[in-house]
Amino acid sequence: MSEETNVSSATPLLDVELVTLFPEMFDSFLAASLLGRAIENGIVRVNRTSPRDYAPGRHRQVDDSPYGGGPGMILRPEPVVAAIEAAEAERGRAFRLMLSPAGRLFDQAFAAELAGRGRLMLICGRYEGVDERVADLFADEIVSIGDYVLAGGEIAAAVIIEAVARLIPSVLGCEASTLDESFSAARLEYPQWTRPPTFRGLAVPDVLLSGNHAQVEGWRRLESLRRTQQRRPDLLLRHPVTDEEEALQGGGKDKRRKNPKKRT
Ligand code: 6GU
Repeated sequence: MSEETNVSSATPLLDVELVTLFPEMFDSFLAASLLGRAIENGIVRVNRTSPRDYAPGRHRQVDDSPYGGGPGMILRPEPVVAAIEAAEAERGRAFRLMLSPAGRLFDQAFAAELAGRGRLMLICGRYEGVDERVADLFADEIVSIGDYVLAGGEIAAAVIIEAVARLIPSVLGCEASTLDESFSAARLEYPQWTRPPTFRGLAVPDVLLSGNHAQVEGWRRLESLRRTQQRRPDLLLRHPVTDEEEALQGGGKDKRRKNPKKRT
């Protein structure tokens, strides 16, 4: 009824319950890369439970037409709730997230919050929606991964698992990597290069070959700011240019606007 993806018996640092009609959609995602290794090592555990296994009758029907009319089908509450309760009866209470485009927007701060919770349940909807009483009775939070509509919550759940799991120190492997990346300081990440020094006519910036670490650090912070100004002015409105950044800008030879142009 419910399958476990974790070979180790060690207590996981991140314990995820997926409630989904399409558990097989997660197979390759959970097996690959750093997350696959974290599951193998028992650092992360992911259990999957399908409402289909709790649907009544020979046809195991999980959906029905909406009261009041309208297009599409709605997931019935009984099989979804039975799946939630079976998973928790087996493995304990989790912080329950209902996935819906009508939820709180998922961002890096939300990911960090969830990483601290330890045990999460991601409840995936499908079709045109889930009977509202599931969220009313069981959701601790309703969460959306962005302003677009997916056919179901499964891809959104994968996004959340990946964003949260990589914040668990032993998952990423190199803890320092999460410190100065995009969004951690409301700035986009600076660009990076590796060998060769010139590729198809494009050269790596000289400063990165200079060996001057202080200069490299300053250059990167300035590039982060410049990218943020160009690509994500909305981030700058919420997190304005700091005195330190202003000093960095002043030190360079080409002074740029401190704040993005206000829209009229
Ligand atoms: Cl969580 N679910 C669906 N179906 N669509 C979405 C979403 C979630 N987040 C953004 N779009």
